[in-house]
Amino acid sequence: MKALVLSGGTGTRLRPFSYSMPKQLIPIANKPVLEHVLDNIRAIGVTEVGIIVGEREPEIRAVLGDGADLGLHLTYLRQDAPRGLAHCVQVARDFLGDDDFVMYLGDNMLPQGVAEAAERFRRVRPAAQVVVQRVADPRAFGVAEVGPEGRVERLVEKPEEPRTDLALIGVYFFTPAIHEATDAIGPSGRGELEITDAVQWLVARGADVRAEEYTGYWKDTGRVEDVLECNRELLDHLVRSVEGTVDEESVLIGPVVVAPGARIVRSFIEGPAIVGADSLVADSRIGPHTAIGRDVRLRGTHIDYSIALDGASVSGVHAVHGSVIGRSAAVSSGDNGIRKHRLVVGDHTEIEVAA
Ligand code: DAU
Repeated sequence: MKALVLSGGTGTRLRPFSYSMPKQLIPIANKPVLEHVLDNIRAIGVTEVGIIVGEREPEIRAVLGDGADLGLHLTYLRQDAPRGLAHCVQVARDFLGDDDFVMYLGDNMLPQGVAEAAERFRRVRPAAQVVVQRVADPRAFGVAEVGPEGRVERLVEKPEEPRTDLALIGVYFFTPAIHEATDAIGPSGRGELEITDAVQWLVARGADVRAEEYTGYWKDTGRVEDVLECNRELLDHLVRSVEGTVDEESVLIGPVVVAPGARIVRSFIEGPAIVGADSLVADSRIGPHTAIGRDVRLRGTHIDYSIALDGASVSGVHAVHGSVIGRSAAVSSGDNGIRKHRLVVGDHTEIEVAA
């Protein structure tokens, strides 16, 4: 079996971060979403991975390389524009050959892995197998109607009036039967070749299509709120490890990771929290569910339920909460002599200040 990881697209819902980095590289618990995805693929014994990329290919290559560090062999497959998930399968046609494959959306997080779904697909080997989860509001997803023995009876992409609460989550198992389907369908209302329509095409022709219900944690990290929530979930399983230096005036409580080269000075950290390599935390308080990247500077700052990306700096700011601070971004409360905020804010940025 091969794997096809989808890492193109535009990521408009993750602005402003997606202006400067592909959304699939946003760190969750200090590791890019794509690396979490690739870990899950390796865990099901698949090492031959095609990765669909768009114009952000150079940044993705810079992080993942040829995959050797992850124990994988990566082949980059360029998609000229985000023309849909089924278009990605067409782009990968030569790479996939006549092999079965798992298709995995590069912005979906399933920290408990997909071993059970993979095992069932290998054992039963239906023409296609989707993975579903019950959600409160399925309208933003593909939605499945499922009969006895997990047989899929109907699939609809983002229906206004969903007939079930079973959302398609971003992992699909395919035999080569999918190729005829992706060639047969036309573009959807949003102008994309939908994989949901391709699988429905198989269902309509009587093919054996199964759904595996996934009860573990799943998150499509498409929006900032989802990124923070997912970060919290992963940090809840953090194991304490202190390799950097912590001075005698600092206190660490609970599961805290201080990476090599990081320095904690006169500060209080309540886990779960991570401080990345070579970062400095001085006279600060880090609350639970916070991930601080590499080379970050925190001075005189209180921060919780937040993510600071590599190279960011925050100084003299209290009560930072529910925040994502971009790479090399600087936030400070300097004494500018006037009790006013000074903001230099990029496009599509969101800032909330205390009244
Ligand atoms: O998250 C699960 C949902 O993912 C499913 O329930 C839907 O049925 C499925 O269509 C998909 O919906 P989204 O609208 O959330 O897909 P999105 O546009 O976010 O794309 C998913 C991933 O695939 C993302 O990493 C970007 C990548 N992609 C997307 C398109 C449209 C590509 O690489 N190429 C593309 O052309």
